[in-house]
Amino acid sequence: VKPLPIAAALLALASASRVSANDDYLAAESVKVVRAEVVPSTAQDPAWDRVEPTAVWVAPQKTVRLNDADANATRDAPPMSVEVRALDDGTRVGLQVSWSDASHNRAGFADTNAFGDSFAIEMPLKFGAGQRLPYVGMGDVEQHVLVSMVRASESNERGMHGHRKGTYVGAGFGSLTRVDLEGIDLDLRYDQAAQRWKAVFVRSRALKDHDIARPLVPFALAIWDGAQNHRSANKYVSRWKVLYDAKRPPEADYLKELSYGYNPGEVGNAAAGKGLVEAVCATCHRFGDKNIAPVQLAPNLSNIGITTTYAYLRDSILNPSQIVVPSINHNRHYSPSGERDRYGAYPNDLNFVWSAEGADGKPVSKMPPFAFPDPQIADMLAYLKSLGKPEQMASIAPGDTQ
Ligand code: HEC
Repeated sequence: VKPLPIAAALLALASASRVSANDDYLAAESVKVVRAEVVPSTAQDPAWDRVEPTAVWVAPQKTVRLNDADANATRDAPPMSVEVRALDDGTRVGLQVSWSDASHNRAGFADTNAFGDSFAIEMPLKFGAGQRLPYVGMGDVEQHVLVSMVRASESNERGMHGHRKGTYVGAGFGSLTRVDLEGIDLDLRYDQAAQRWKAVFVRSRALKDHDIARPLVPFALAIWDGAQNHRSANKYVSRWKVLYDAKRPPEADYLKELSYGYNPGEVGNAAAGKGLVEAVCATCHRFGDKNIAPVQLAPNLSNIGITTTYAYLRDSILNPSQIVVPSINHNRHYSPSGERDRYGAYPNDLNFVWSAEGADGKPVSKMPPFAFPDPQIADMLAYLKSLGKPEQMASIAPGDTQ
């Protein structure tokens, strides 16, 4: 018998022990729901401590800039890892999210220049096989999200637990409509000794018009740090993650869609991808150490690997108009070569508006679609996914290691 060459033997071993793309996806992107008698609706209930946390990365949202130099400077803060725990008692499901924050910032009712630490969680209004995920920044025109927010306010200090809370439907950045849904509890407590916030979101699985009694429920997190002047789009965001109830068989079609990026061949070589992305995309986008493009000509991609999924990145390249990121504050850019209006103002510089109106009234991205062959897309995805990834990330377990 001819002995197998070592390389071939190792390969055979690796493929035998290789878990499926679905398992890889769930290991990296899901938070597993743990069964409990009751799901506590207060953030500091010890029942949460008995659940093994899953690490989820959040990174400063770099895509849009506000008209505030101090707040914009904080966008260079490093990503942070938050702990997520999930409990389910059969009818209600709850998440506790906890993160480190050295300062306890609350906003008073009259404050316009001080910002409270805040937390939000969003879920797609519609999800399942055949439904693409909404834009992670509060949804988009076609795919809406349900967002629940809680913001630290001063009244809590007086023991009134009067944090400002609310649940909204989002159809894109800046488009929140308040909805009065019964059956959602939110709590936010600062643990002074540990210097950590603990936020809790608990809801009925089945709410009117929003039933999440399903094995796979996408969700994303947002965290605002008042000490960094965070508000509206200046915040930490996660990408779409998934709440996974292993007691129910996952919908195979949906899991297949969600796990894009975890199958062999879908993600290629980051070094090759870097070359491509730098050559093709840097005239419009800023990312990594490539900062040639004019600020805000297109979204900054420096943290895009943390805040988006593989499928979103693929679609952004192949079909940019599928989700068009709204351009905020483009009125700041004016065109000094244009003709002044009767008040002496120059016209807006339309280069900084990220879309134009198409024939059907829908926005068309200024980014052209790029029809790269699959292997090159795979290389670009590998590189884009590395953007924003902290050095120490590889050593962090469980969960968010991708
Ligand atoms: C002609 C300028 C231009 C070029 C070249 C360009 N883009 Fe874009 N890109 C934009 C604009 C404008 C937007 C925002 C509107 C939208 O969502 O499509 C955008 C959006 C994106 C987004 C979504 C960003 C977010 O925050 O969600 C990604 C990802 C992206 N581009 C990747 C790329 C990659 C990768 C390349 C190179 C293959 C590239 N772009 C080339 C202009 C460009």
